[in-house]
Amino acid sequence: MRHLIDILDLTPAEIDGLIAKACDIIARPQDYAHRCEGKKLATLFFEPSTRTRLSFEAAMYELGGHVIGFSDAANSSASKGESVADTVRVVGCYADIIAMRHFKEGAPLVAAMKSPVPIINAGDGGHNHPTQTLTDLLTIWREKGRLDNLTVGFCGDLKFGRTVHSLISALSRYSGIRFVLISPEELKVPSYIKDTLKQKGLEYVQTTDLEAVMPELDILYMTRVQRERFFNEEEYLRLKDSYILTPEKLQAAKADLTVLHPLPRVNEIAVTVDDDPRACYFRQALNGKFIRMALILKLLEVE
Ligand code: CP
Repeated sequence: MRHLIDILDLTPAEIDGLIAKACDIIARPQDYAHRCEGKKLATLFFEPSTRTRLSFEAAMYELGGHVIGFSDAANSSASKGESVADTVRVVGCYADIIAMRHFKEGAPLVAAMKSPVPIINAGDGGHNHPTQTLTDLLTIWREKGRLDNLTVGFCGDLKFGRTVHSLISALSRYSGIRFVLISPEELKVPSYIKDTLKQKGLEYVQTTDLEAVMPELDILYMTRVQRERFFNEEEYLRLKDSYILTPEKLQAAKADLTVLHPLPRVNEIAVTVDDDPRACYFRQALNGKFIRMALILKLLEVE
């Protein structure tokens, strides 16, 4: 039985396979409409979500399966003190696969140790978000036609942004990737990630100046400042609008720049950017459903 807790649980060849499968699903959705008949997905969301939960649920429905679960832990027996380990042991009696989001880093890993069915980490605290990374990789593949030889700028909250941590980890296995890490001093990428980049001899630069590096970028990955991870509201209010992408700032960018954002957006991309053909974040959200369909098929070993 396979789980997906960290993006590195998948080999690059397996990620290539998932991307190929997602592209086939996009091309021939009718061929997949009954693949998961009789199967159930449980979505256990201890933290709020729109895209991840609903794209998982849409993915299972489009595969012909069923969905159970909760979107608010207050309505589950976690509110009575039930542990994550006990919850998944029980839900594993009712469902064939579980997608779980939790506010505590490591909770999906604990769940995987006890679960009788595959666990998918749908985001754990400020740690990892591997299915967002699969979404991002599929999007880069569809927009750029490659996953190597790219200059990738990550901008915003690189400290708490779990999507950033997982995507850096994934891209560090491809050749010719240059990382440009754009953040306020207070929200720099954690040192364990920089240590990994250094150990692998990968090229990265850190800067606070988005406009200075804009012309170099092939990909610009914007992120929201993660209010829910701050201990101090004043600090959040001071940092929240550090970067706001506007059409004026994009004038200095490459004509084929790909602008990504895992969403939700708060204020960091002006809505006037949405009509720019380089704005790919809504296509990215759609890709999330297709790659999750591919992942469900893989973990359920459905052909
Ligand atoms: N990208 C993402 O994880 O969005 P949600 O929080 O809405 O699931």
